[in-house]
Amino acid sequence: MVDDKASPGISVRNLYKIFGKDPEKYIDLVKQGMTKTELNDKHGHVLGLKDINIDMPAGGIQVVMGLSGSGKSTLIRHINRLIDPTAGEVLVGDVDVCQMNPAQLQEFRRHETAMVFQKFALLPHRTVMDNTVYGLEVQGVSRSEQLERAQRWIDRVGLTGFESNYPNQLSGGMQQRVGLARALTNDAPILLMDEAFSALDPLIRMDMQSVLLGLQKEIKKTVVFITHDLDEALRLGDKIAILRDGEVVQQGTGQHIVLNPADEYISSFVREVNRGRVVLVQTIMDTSVGLENREGPAIKIGTTLEKAAKIMTDGNSSMAHVVDAQGKMLGSLDIQAVISSMVTPISHDDPVAAE
Ligand SMILES: Nc1ncnc2c1ncn2[C@@H]1O[C@H](COP(=O)(O)OP(=O)(O)OP(=O)(O)O)[C@@H](O)[C@H]1O
Ligand SMILES: [Mg+2]
Repeated sequence: MVDDKASPGISVRNLYKIFGKDPEKYIDLVKQGMTKTELNDKHGHVLGLKDINIDMPAGGIQVVMGLSGSGKSTLIRHINRLIDPTAGEVLVGDVDVCQMNPAQLQEFRRHETAMVFQKFALLPHRTVMDNTVYGLEVQGVSRSEQLERAQRWIDRVGLTGFESNYPNQLSGGMQQRVGLARALTNDAPILLMDEAFSALDPLIRMDMQSVLLGLQKEIKKTVVFITHDLDEALRLGDKIAILRDGEVVQQGTGQHIVLNPADEYISSFVREVNRGRVVLVQTIMDTSVGLENREGPAIKIGTTLEKAAKIMTDGNSSMAHVVDAQGKMLGSLDIQAVISSMVTPISHDDPVAAE
C-alpha cells in the first residue's frame, strides 16, 4: 500500500475513458485520432478522456481546469476509481489504482483519499460534529477519538462553537468549512476537491481559498483541485492542467501558462488575468548588472510583481534587487519594468485596441 501518511504523487498515464455500451470496441479508433464529435456522431459513444498524462506533485496542489464538459470530474473520479478507465494507469505513489482488488480499493478509498464536493454533501440530520466524524465512524474509530480528532479540524477551519448546529443553520461558506473539516478529519494524504468552492459567493470563496492555502502549508497533502475559474486556479495551483474536450491542451505552472498560452482557447482564458499576481520577479529581473550592484530593497526570488511593486513604492525606491534564499543577489529590478510587465499585452484583434 501507499506509504503511511506521507503524501504521494499521482501519475496519470495514457488514460482514456469512453462512455457507452462497448467502449473497448472504439479505443483503437480513438487512439488513431478519432475526435469526440466523430465518435459521438458515428458510434454514439462519448469520449470522456483522451490520452491524459499528468504528474501531480506530491504534497502540492494540482489544479485541473476547463470548461463544462471538458472531462474534469471524469478525471478526478478516476483517482479513487469511482470511474474505471477504458485504458491507462493512475499511479498513486507506485501503486496502480486501476489494478487494485475490491478489498485494496476499499482500504485505499477510506484511508488514502478524502473528497470535498461542490454541493457540500452534508447529512442534514447530523450536527456539524456528527458530519465531521462520519468517516471515522465508518472506519470504526472509538467515539472519544472521533470527537478529539474532529474537534481539531473544526477549530482549524474556524467553526469552533458551531459543533451542535445543523447544516441548514449555517451559511454556504460555513457548510463548506464543514465539508473541509470532514475531509481533513479522515487524515488521508490525498484530498480530491471537485469545484469545492464554486457554489460560494466571491468573497467567501476567496476566504476558503485562504483557509485551504493556510492549512496546506502545514498539512502538505496531495490536493487535486478542480475549478473552471482561472483566478482560483492561479491562486491555488502549484501546477495547472487545462482540459478541452477530454484532452490536456496545456499544463505547467500558472506563470508559464499566463506567459505562454498554448493556443487561442487558453489565450481567451488568460487575457483578463492580473499578471501582477502571477508573474514572478525572477522572470523580468535584469541579470546583466554587476552582482555587487545591490540597489534598493532586497526582494526574494518567487515574489510576485504586485508584491514587488508594493515593496518598491513603500520604500520609495525606483530600483530593487532580487535575492535567493541565502541572500545572494541574482539580478536587479526597475519599477518601470515591473509595472509594464504587470499590464496584459493588448491583442491586435481586440476591438477596443483597434479604435
Ligand atoms: N456516465 C456518463 N455517460 C456518458 N457520458 C458521460 C458520463 N459522464 C460524463 N460524460 C460525458 O463526458 C464528458 C466529460 O464530462 P465531465 O462531467 O467530466 O465534465 P466536467 O469538465 O466535469 O464538466 P462540468 O464543469 O460541467 O462539471 C462530457 O461530454 C459528459 O457529457
Ligand atoms: Mg464536473
